[in-house]
Amino acid sequence: MKERKTRLIHNLQDHISYLSELGAEFIATPDSTPGPSASSGLDLSALEALIRRCEKCPLYQTRTQAVPGEGSAQAGLMFIGEGPGHDEDAQGRPFVGRAGQLLTKIINAMDFRREDVYITNVVKCRPPQNRNPNGQEIEACAPYLQQQLDLIRPRVIVSLGNVPTHFLLGTRSGITVMRGTFQKHAGIPVMPTFHPSYLVRNEQNRELKRMVWEDMKQVMELLGRK
Ligand code: URA
Repeated sequence: MKERKTRLIHNLQDHISYLSELGAEFIATPDSTPGPSASSGLDLSALEALIRRCEKCPLYQTRTQAVPGEGSAQAGLMFIGEGPGHDEDAQGRPFVGRAGQLLTKIINAMDFRREDVYITNVVKCRPPQNRNPNGQEIEACAPYLQQQLDLIRPRVIVSLGNVPTHFLLGTRSGITVMRGTFQKHAGIPVMPTFHPSYLVRNEQNRELKRMVWEDMKQVMELLGRK
C-alpha cells in the first residue's frame, strides 16, 4: 500500500514537472476549465512555440528548425505524417516539399484549405537522411502530439503511412492492410492511408491515387461533406 502511494506521488510529481515545462500555470479540475486546454492551460500557439525550442531528444542537434505543425486550432480534420523532411526542416512548416504539394492538392480536392485543417507529424524534428524516427525519438515527442490532439480535439484523423498509423493505433500491420478502414485513437476516428511521398515515388500508379481518394471520400462522408 505504502509502496503504491509512493509510486503515485512520484508519478504525480513527474506529471506536474512535465506540465510546468510545457508552461502550464494551473492544473484544471473537472469544474475549473478556464483555458482552451483542459489538461494544462496551454494554448496551441504556446505549445507550438515550446516545440520550436524542444531539446528532449538528440534530433534537435541536427535539425535546422523544429516543425510543430500548422493550421486551425478548431480543425475538425487533422493530418498526421511521420516527421519533417528536408524542405520542412528548412522552412519550419509541415508538408511543404513535393509530398506536401500533393497533400495540399488532396486537401483542396476534399474542399478544404490547408488553413482549415491541422497538419502535423509524429516527430517534430527531421531525422537525419530522412530515416524513420526511432522508438526513443517517437516516445520523447509523443506528449506534443497528445497535447495537440487534446487542444484541437479533431473529429477525424488521417494518418499518413506506417509511422503514424503504428503509433496511433498500436498496430504493427502495414499500411496496405490498414488503409481504408476507420479505427479509433482515444475515441477519435482514424483513417489510415498511404503517405503522399509513396504516391510521389509511384507517380505512374493511378490505382494508389484512386485508393487514397476512396479513403478521403470516407473521411468527407464522416464529416458530412459528401
Ligand atoms: N513527410 C512527412 O511525413 N511529414 C512532412 O512534414 C513532410 C514529409
